[in-house]
Amino acid sequence: MLAPMTSPAATALAVLEREIDVPGEGLDRLRLVATPFVPEVRLHLAEDAIVWWARMEAAAGHALPPPYWASAWAGGQALARHLLDHPELAAGRRVLDLAAGSGLVAIAAALAGAARVVANDIDPYAVAAVTVNARANRVAVAAMGEDLLDSDAPDADLLVAGDVFYDREMAGRMLPFLRRAVARGARVLVGDPGRGHLPRDLLDPVASYRVPTTEPAVDSPVRRVEVLRPRAGGPDPETGSGSAGGSNPMPDVADRP
Ligand SMILES: C[S@@+](CC[C@H](N)C(=O)[O-])C[C@H]1O[C@@H](n2cnc3c(N)ncnc32)[C@H](O)[C@@H]1O
Repeated sequence: MLAPMTSPAATALAVLEREIDVPGEGLDRLRLVATPFVPEVRLHLAEDAIVWWARMEAAAGHALPPPYWASAWAGGQALARHLLDHPELAAGRRVLDLAAGSGLVAIAAALAGAARVVANDIDPYAVAAVTVNARANRVAVAAMGEDLLDSDAPDADLLVAGDVFYDREMAGRMLPFLRRAVARGARVLVGDPGRGHLPRDLLDPVASYRVPTTEPAVDSPVRRVEVLRPRAGGPDPETGSGSAGGSNPMPDVADRP
């Protein structure tokens, strides 16, 4: 008899639900915690993501993607804070959180009153994490696992992306995608702590925050993190000319003290 088919995200969801139901006590456990800079949002995060990852790989018997979803990244925390402090940005809008990880930014958009929130991430564990974290915060967020970055800009009014410029390939695909969304009339906001592949000359800062760091392998307890939007009228990174920036009519706002 054939075994029933299960999707990677369904398998990951079953694993996370089991981990949440029977939490351990060591560094390799998940805990439901208030996000340091966004205490309105509680997330199932790893006590130590590296140790959790090692245990899960040993149990699975094969390599698993790094559990980015098990930490609240500085860029995502700033962006989530920004949406909650300026709910008019998301209220009543269709929001897409790209590379959503834990779903922190998506959940903040839902709490801010978004009409519909979709969280997208290619890691099936992140898709599962979005599901359990949305549930923990009693908000509706649809989680999806397709890779959208080479597609046309999706049907959303506001695109948000926290901490997505951490590697060359990702950055090289992300910015053109975001600019296609802007050209189509969507608003776009990214949150970034100055990662190496941030295309600083193609983005304009909207706000900046001092964010407590909780992610692995960061020594400083606090990082300055900017919320930025694609610069209107800058060169198109795909063609090197013209304007793919559109008007992206986001209001400027001051720093949070
Ligand atoms: C550093 S984490 C940021 C997570 C979250 N936005 C935050 O700020 O906490 C980057 C995320 O990008 C996801 N990712 C990588 N490539 C992707 C792609 N092509 N499409 C969607 N997500 C992707 C990873 O799986 C990971 O969850």
